[in-house]
Amino acid sequence: RRIVVLISGSGSNLQALIDALNTPALPDAQIILVLSNRKAAYGLQRAAQANIPTAYLALQPYLKNNPGKTREDYDAEVAKIVVKEKPDLVVLAGWMHIMSEKFLELVDGRKGLKGDDGVEVTHNIPVINLHPALPGAFDGAHAIERAYEAFQKGEIAHSGAMVHRVVKDVDRGEPVIVREVPIEKGEPIESFEERLHKVEHEIIVQAAAKVLEEVKSVQR
Ligand code: GRF
Repeated sequence: RRIVVLISGSGSNLQALIDALNTPALPDAQIILVLSNRKAAYGLQRAAQANIPTAYLALQPYLKNNPGKTREDYDAEVAKIVVKEKPDLVVLAGWMHIMSEKFLELVDGRKGLKGDDGVEVTHNIPVINLHPALPGAFDGAHAIERAYEAFQKGEIAHSGAMVHRVVKDVDRGEPVIVREVPIEKGEPIESFEERLHKVEHEIIVQAAAKVLEEVKSVQR
């Protein structure tokens, strides 16, 4: 099973996937490409250390180098890089860029689209995203900080993390794995964040294995 991982940062979730490859947690899988939209992403080092091919494509340089092109064109470019690898699964692991529908149409389009050669192509490659909050609780950026603040104000009793299918609305796809993460009264945000990241590293592997299993059964 071929996995492509998209990252923007330290890549600790990518590392969790790498460490799980060919263990009972994630059998019969390989990461065939790690794509980052930030050159300095430490996750690129992690991939290189694991002999995994890497690619880099950032939005601003792309727009500067291609006057007239739009964010959608960038997303289409990202989709093409991804689809070329013929993955069975795309994992957004700390990918700090909201994908336009264009990306999803090309990758998990469920409808025919013209390729460069004018031939209609349809890909149904599942895309999953890791989000450090419970479904619908703190969609979008800074979810960890927002959950921590809500807890301090007594608005929530705990938070969580989830991996969900990617759809056009940010962080709103159908959950694949959801795990609650408690917050302790008076604890600093760092210790909550550390506990939450540990859960992320577990659910990202569980979610990838679960979706790949579904893919396998569909293809059988
Ligand atoms: C994770 O908390 C993820 O949920 C969020 O960004 C962080 C990525 O961390 N989207 P890493 O780059 O995998 O270490």
